[in-house]
Amino acid sequence: MAGGGDVAGAGGPAEGDAPALPTLVTERLSLRPWRAEDRAPVAAMNADPEVMACLGEPLSREASDALVDRIEAHFARRGFGFWAVEVVGGAPFIGMIGLAVPRFEAHFTPCVEIGWRLAREHQRRGYATEGARAALAYGFETLGLEEIVAWTARDNVRSRALMERLGMGYDPADDFAHPMLPEGHPLQEHVLYRLRREAFAAVASRIQAAMPGRIFS
Ligand SMILES: CC(C)(COP(=O)(O)OP(=O)(O)OC[C@H]1O[C@@H](n2cnc3c(N)ncnc32)[C@H](O)[C@@H]1OP(=O)(O)O)[C@@H](O)C(=O)NCCC(=O)NCCS
Repeated sequence: MAGGGDVAGAGGPAEGDAPALPTLVTERLSLRPWRAEDRAPVAAMNADPEVMACLGEPLSREASDALVDRIEAHFARRGFGFWAVEVVGGAPFIGMIGLAVPRFEAHFTPCVEIGWRLAREHQRRGYATEGARAALAYGFETLGLEEIVAWTARDNVRSRALMERLGMGYDPADDFAHPMLPEGHPLQEHVLYRLRREAFAAVASRIQAAMPGRIFS
């Protein structure tokens, strides 16, 4: 696919009438549909206090399974969602990256967000940037979205740095109190980043010129 991660069927023909879910392939990663065997490593990631520091409390196994159930329901309903991420020829599960429609209302909804969460041992290798670029390309080029947003707790420096690497723009006028966190919660203050389709095309072509064959091959 021009300008983005390759989109392939999800491991062969779908059962019954269910449409095949998309898989995005980058140079190092596969963003793929969830498998039953992902439930243990995703629960370990969601139980890690360091991974969850800017997301609220670490999750129990039950809460982690419920999250994956919601992600799979989102894929079934909309055809896209937060993909399970694996390293091609390497770790079978390193985290999740994807696109989603939020469950809450705010001044910027309705919208499609991009989000990410990687297990600690797979951070700081450029995987989040690589996977997120493929998800953005899918959102703009395949789903035809005009804008994709991202939000995070104000002090989530690493997530904000990733949004900036991706060419997303920040306007303090978009700051908001996350409606799903209780009043006064230490993580309640959130920032919003936005990326429009035209701006992504410019970012993508700059990256492609600088790193031919790296991610956008
Ligand atoms: C947000 C999060 C996904 C960002 O992960 P990350 O590791 O910072 O981002 P990347 O995977 O893109 O890695 C970038 C880093 O890898 C380095 N890197 C190493 N090898 C690299 C390579 N081959 N290519 C590109 N970058 C590479 C980069 O220099 C950069 O380093 P820096 O952070 O010192 O500047 C991660 O911090 C996370 O999962 N946090 C917990 C969950 C969370 O808060 N999610 C967001 C909720 S809104």
